[in-house]
Amino acid sequence: MKLWGGRFEKDTDALVEDFHSSIAFDRRLYAQDIEGSIAHAAMLGRAGIITPEEAALITAGLREVREDIAQGRVELETGAEDIHMNVEKLLTERIGEAGKKLHTGRSRNDQVALDLRLFLRGETDRTKELLAALTRVLLALAEEHAETWAPGYTHLQKAQPVSLGHHFMAYVAMFLRDLGRLNDARRRLNYSPLGSGALAGTTFPLRREEVARELGFAGVTPNSLDGVSDRDFALEFLSAAAIIMMHLSRLAEEIILWSSGEFGFITLDDAHATGSSIMPQKKNPDVAELVRGKTGRVYGDLVALLTVMKGLPLAYNKDLQEDKEAVFDAVDTVQKCLLTMAPMLQAMTVRRERLAEEAKKGFMNATDLADYLAKKQVPFREAHAIVGRLVLACAQKGRALEDLPLAELRAASPVFADDVYEAISVEACVRARRVAGGPAPERVREAIRAARAELESLYSPH
Ligand code: ARG
Repeated sequence: MKLWGGRFEKDTDALVEDFHSSIAFDRRLYAQDIEGSIAHAAMLGRAGIITPEEAALITAGLREVREDIAQGRVELETGAEDIHMNVEKLLTERIGEAGKKLHTGRSRNDQVALDLRLFLRGETDRTKELLAALTRVLLALAEEHAETWAPGYTHLQKAQPVSLGHHFMAYVAMFLRDLGRLNDARRRLNYSPLGSGALAGTTFPLRREEVARELGFAGVTPNSLDGVSDRDFALEFLSAAAIIMMHLSRLAEEIILWSSGEFGFITLDDAHATGSSIMPQKKNPDVAELVRGKTGRVYGDLVALLTVMKGLPLAYNKDLQEDKEAVFDAVDTVQKCLLTMAPMLQAMTVRRERLAEEAKKGFMNATDLADYLAKKQVPFREAHAIVGRLVLACAQKGRALEDLPLAELRAASPVFADDVYEAISVEACVRARRVAGGPAPERVREAIRAARAELESLYSPH
């Protein structure tokens, strides 16, 4: 008989049984479920709601059930619907009558809300750890390449030279904000819904604060209806995960471009690339492509849960059972992507000579040539036009700006002097961009120091 079978006269239809059972996926919450039940039962004992002996029997029995599940020694049954009722059933089979008192003053509605919070708190911490590890890889690359000149792009057209280190630091800035987002989400998530009951709290004198403290929460949720029916903590994780994936996907896209023959800026290590079953010459950036591809899944997880939530009247509705697979999928996807990207970046070879070669092409020093004139009091708009005409002339003859003899430059503007060549070398262009947040090597090194300190403070354990 079902745990809730009292008012029913018929068995559940087999199709319904299969349809509404969540054990196939919520079994993943067994450790959190049991952790919450242990804290609840211990409190019931302390509060005199059940006897201390019963509480001791229940908590010991739950620990054994946890071990049995961990070791795969017990069957979790579809008929028992979900992880909460499976655990209760296993407990009662093991310890008898006392097991039937575990659910005093509690509902599966506050129970599942608790389990998901505990789960996401742990996975938020794990995600932070992986994100921090990836950020450290990028910081090391940035340090190594603070003076590796590289083309910078807008519209995927050569724009102005930067350093590869500066480029990597852009991603560091993104990932540090992602860490901050995870911290924010974790802070708001960290409240215990236990005591909300099914929706209207309970008549038992539960000690909510005590249980919350025991489970490492900062406090208790403030409203019983909200406690069982809100999933915004999960949505916050999913949105942080979606943004992380978006950042990873942009980085992945660059890795894909850079490893192509046309760019040739990096070579992926063999251990992080794959081949083709028909084309013997191929070496493909599958890891980066999969990261880019999997980004859509995580967006989907976020949109799925947002959509589940949008029409739900208070309080609990079974629709909420759909939260879990979205959360699990996003957790697995974002963590696997972070885990795989870091060593791939660490092991790739940067082809400095190719970067240097490309950094010289495409008139990327045109702005600097205009700035040169502007610094000698030619109005910038006029300087822009002068250099534009020089670029046109050079493009027609296949020359670079620095190839123009001084006489030709002076014909365009008498302000040009000998020192112009010095001012428009790739190196000078980058080194001169000393503005805060700019690519000059000393600025990049300063940014690396600041980012390291920020990483420390964002990643300090709770
Ligand atoms: N398996 C359910 C879920 O994931 C647990 C809560 C069920 N509550 C209920 N009243 N049917 O949401």
